[in-house]
Amino acid sequence: MLIRSPEDLGHSIRELAPLPPARRVLIADPRDYDVRYAINPHMLDGSGALKTVDRELARKQWRDMKSAFEAAGLEVDVLPPLDGHPDLCFCANPALWIPAEAAPNGTAHLVRSRMAHAERHDEVAHLVQHMNVRGVEIEGIEGPADRFEGSGDGMFHPGRRLLWGGVGPRTELAAWAEIGERFELPVAAVQLVDPLFYHLDTCLAPLDEERCLWFPPAFNEAGAALIRAFYPRAIEVADREAREGLACNAWCPDGERVFLPAGCEETASALGRHGFQVIEIECGEFRKAGGAVFCLKLVIG
Ligand code: ARG
Repeated sequence: MLIRSPEDLGHSIRELAPLPPARRVLIADPRDYDVRYAINPHMLDGSGALKTVDRELARKQWRDMKSAFEAAGLEVDVLPPLDGHPDLCFCANPALWIPAEAAPNGTAHLVRSRMAHAERHDEVAHLVQHMNVRGVEIEGIEGPADRFEGSGDGMFHPGRRLLWGGVGPRTELAAWAEIGERFELPVAAVQLVDPLFYHLDTCLAPLDEERCLWFPPAFNEAGAALIRAFYPRAIEVADREAREGLACNAWCPDGERVFLPAGCEETASALGRHGFQVIEIECGEFRKAGGAVFCLKLVIG
């Protein structure tokens, strides 16, 4: 069922079935990470040239992020690199994870993406092959949607069986309609309106049942109204930290700790005032490709 306005749900979020916190993540070996083409505005500098990545530093930042996840008690699985795929490290995008508790048949599902850009098409089969283990059902989008970028545009409301779906350059509304119907899931679909915020995870980070980090100008009126209604204590991110720091590409696995892109001081203080424990992650080299903590991982359990 698609939710476009607060009334569509018909009851409170608290009446939705509960979901457990994240325990296990997939991250992708950044061996081939680089900026070699531009498929979002972050990848170009002011003069229109591709940004230059310090690949050594990128690999260090990734290793430190991996250690931070492990230190937080998360189980970390690593996807091997794929030749010629510099964006593979953003492994939130090639698939959407649906936890067992959210699927009608009680089995976890992985929904294959339909990547919007040819440069990233082959990442999907590579990730799916790695995940093709017992206990996970893998399926694709069957309907008319040509674009669907998995967990970059799709994320569960913390602790509740409600999926948030971004509609924009990478994912079409039809994909959310199909997923909502197939998994009997309410999908709160929100329209993205600014090319800089091209995935939902660039402008919305779920924190707990009542709070998220978000950047209101990235949404249209209806989307913003839905976020305000379902996240009554939403925390707004300042303009510069949202645009340059990708502060909304943060990840809160458990309603308590927040992995936040480093350098977003205002956001870090706001989270601190709200009682969250902030774990800063240096990911500046990955921001050059338009991604940070949230999309450098795929929750898989
Ligand atoms: N360069 C990648 C792309 O444009 C970055 C993806 C970042 N992912 C995300 N969910 N924000 O596809």
